[in-house]
Amino acid sequence: MADQSFDFGLIGLGVMGRNFLLNMADHGFAVIGYNRSPQRVTDLENEIVPGTTIKGTSDLSLFVKELKSPRKIMMLVQAGKAVDAVLEELIPLLDKGDIVIDGGNSHYTDTVRRVKYMEEKGFKFFGMGVSGGEEGARRGPSIMPGGDPDAYPYIRPMLEAVSAKVNGEPCVAHLGKGAAGHYVKMVHNGIEYGIMQLISEVYDVLHRGYGLTNDELHKVFKDWNDGELQSFLVEITRDIFLKNDDKTGKRLVDVILDKAGSKGTGKWTSQDAMDLGIAIPTIDVAVSMRNLSALKQERVEASKVYPSNIKISGVSKEDIIQQAREALFFGTMISYAQGLALLYVASKEYDMEIPLPQVVKIWRGGCIIRSTLLEAFYQAYVSNPALPNILLDNNIAALLKAREANTRKLIATAVQAGIPVSAVSVSLGYFDAYRSETMPTNLIQAQRDFFGAHTFQRVDEEGVFHAHWQ
Ligand code: 6PG
Repeated sequence: MADQSFDFGLIGLGVMGRNFLLNMADHGFAVIGYNRSPQRVTDLENEIVPGTTIKGTSDLSLFVKELKSPRKIMMLVQAGKAVDAVLEELIPLLDKGDIVIDGGNSHYTDTVRRVKYMEEKGFKFFGMGVSGGEEGARRGPSIMPGGDPDAYPYIRPMLEAVSAKVNGEPCVAHLGKGAAGHYVKMVHNGIEYGIMQLISEVYDVLHRGYGLTNDELHKVFKDWNDGELQSFLVEITRDIFLKNDDKTGKRLVDVILDKAGSKGTGKWTSQDAMDLGIAIPTIDVAVSMRNLSALKQERVEASKVYPSNIKISGVSKEDIIQQAREALFFGTMISYAQGLALLYVASKEYDMEIPLPQVVKIWRGGCIIRSTLLEAFYQAYVSNPALPNILLDNNIAALLKAREANTRKLIATAVQAGIPVSAVSVSLGYFDAYRSETMPTNLIQAQRDFFGAHTFQRVDEEGVFHAHWQ
């Protein structure tokens, strides 16, 4: 093919990159992929679907020359130093106006820096979250781009073509300026951590606490997924319970070590929320529980120091399943509410102009946190795009109130039995604090003023006061 005949280029032909490129080619775009390793190029070539236009190369300058102007180049390389290294190789080969997209899970502060750096050189730089895993990249992910709105029209048709669709609408939208796309993806992952922790807690109650078998759990999660909890994470959980282990013939879930890994995006969400002073305790607890899970050896020792009998009794199977379902629904809504409240503040603080209605709209399909609940959130934002917290929406409130009593029961049962349900509990605690007209923080203010003369405000008079406490 002659020079400048490809519509889109992708750097980094790991499974995600390869699948994204194959997806784009399926939609009629001529695409070219670059990877330093010739093996990765061969892997791509082996998967080319007849009738599509795909080329692979290990020659970066050839890769750049083959692209139509302005070039649209996406990087899917490991977040961190690798992104800067690739940019340095790429920059001398680019022309002004070319568009570079970082599609990895980069920390948003790196993206802020790279946007500035690239724009000073005359290029456009987008930080773009891509969610949906390997399958999503191949069949339709949820895509979260952020960057110069004037450059977005150049990439928009391609992204809309390859993204997941809900009711015919693409799961991609311009999500704001600068690092907005990566910020939204980070918070997406924080919410993902929260929901995964909530699911694992209700699993613990039903399995370890109530003794439900994997077959019963499969049935429970199937029912949930067929109803109001319909979501990707509940759906895959349903299927996980049936998977057999080739080595032992047992269910695979029962031979998986209870130590959770993490790549950092959940932690980043918590860290940034702390910096901004936004409460996202469900997500914080999810991060902490992964950390605690890593201490396997210590937990084994502690279980001998504090032996417990965590069997649940005195409640029917039907009731505990119902309580677990409602608690999961409740906690999941709170996890979204916290993430969205963080986005609301971060958007203003960092001047990113993140459109929250669009965020929940494009999360309805393709991504890991896709769920039928997002439709309700979308409607809430359509009624009031400036909603600081979805808990203030009347329809959302009705959904929560209907599940509040059973959430309390589930927590009470689990706490009594000694089963940790920290994310469910803290979700309810967040709810209870958020809807409290008065909090006991008057006492904290009194203490601060007592020992440090930190002053306080009064309920009956404007101004700042200090008392002589002794
Ligand atoms: C997605 C996922 C994806 C990745 C997570 C896993 O949206 O497709 O979130 O980005 O699987 O980063 O994160 P941990 O390894 O930290 O669980």
